[in-house]
Amino acid sequence: MNRIIVGTMTWGKWGKNLSIKEMSDKIKFCHDHALNTFDHADIYGGYTTESEFGKAFKLTGISRKSLFFISKCGIQYPCDSKNYIIKHYNYSRQHIINSVNSSLSNLNTDYLDLLLLHRPSPLMDTDIISDTVDELIKQGKIKDFGVSNFKPSHIELLSKNINISWNQIEYSISNSSPMLDGTIDFHQINGIGTMAWSPLGDFFKIDSPENQRIKKIFESLKEKYGTNSENLLLAWILKHPSRIHPIIGTTIDKRIENACDSLKINLDIEDWFSIFEAQKGERVP
Ligand SMILES: NC(=O)c1ccc[n+]([C@@H]2O[C@H](COP(=O)([O-])OP(=O)(O)OC[C@H]3O[C@@H](n4cnc5c(N)ncnc54)[C@H](OP(=O)(O)O)[C@@H]3O)[C@@H](O)[C@H]2O)c1
Repeated sequence: MNRIIVGTMTWGKWGKNLSIKEMSDKIKFCHDHALNTFDHADIYGGYTTESEFGKAFKLTGISRKSLFFISKCGIQYPCDSKNYIIKHYNYSRQHIINSVNSSLSNLNTDYLDLLLLHRPSPLMDTDIISDTVDELIKQGKIKDFGVSNFKPSHIELLSKNINISWNQIEYSISNSSPMLDGTIDFHQINGIGTMAWSPLGDFFKIDSPENQRIKKIFESLKEKYGTNSENLLLAWILKHPSRIHPIIGTTIDKRIENACDSLKINLDIEDWFSIFEAQKGERVP
């Protein structure tokens, strides 16, 4: 798995509506830039993006072995192809199996490198989940297993019977609570990797006082590190000793390529804290 993961949530109907050819070119572009890990979920694009990506992957001619596919299951929501009444979570044996089988056929692959449960459900039966995941691992349909948006208590509950390798959580300078509330410590203690979704936070979305303060700090840091704001935001995440893996959401080649350079930045400790302080609006105690 690459340290920087490529998110596909907005490649299709939930965003840029890329054609199969455009997706295929993007997969090749990522592969050429040593970005081989793609993050999916069954629901992306209203259950359509995985199959578009799968067709695009086939067009590339790239060997399956050189790519790493992550997908998620568990959310069910009403959309054109599904007539559920309300959005809900389903971790029944049948649903997990059906979802994995359709991810495999959509993505044109025999196996997922990693399956994640998309969100914790109050109704999840951890015995059923672990038996089902075990079965999928034994069948070779999934190589590894993890969760997403789980709190430490959810992980403790589920990990009694099954190994959890990853937790994919929202994490950025805009939302650093997992670093402060013990979530990432818990991951480190238990050997669970952390993936960060929305790693750019709301920096490009909201002109808040927090972001205005960060922008001010970035003016000198951009010059010092010869970089741009996106990479400073990623470098802030990458500096954490738990080796967090950011999942980048951009669909633009130049920005994807640029993100690779964030791995070369090692923020000085005081610079890391100056970004943290700017977000908080006060010095650390
Ligand atoms: N597990 C979960 O519950 C969960 C939830 C959400 C997301 N995810 C995963 O995480 C991935 C990334 O999430 P995200 O899309 O929120 O990540 P992000 O990388 O924080 O944000 C990407 C967004 O920022 C925009 N952007 C990037 N650079 C910019 C710039 N310089 N100026 C202005 N806008 C810029 C992108 O637009 P352009 O495309 O135009 O560059 C895109 O809309 C998703 O694709 C998905 O795989 C998982």
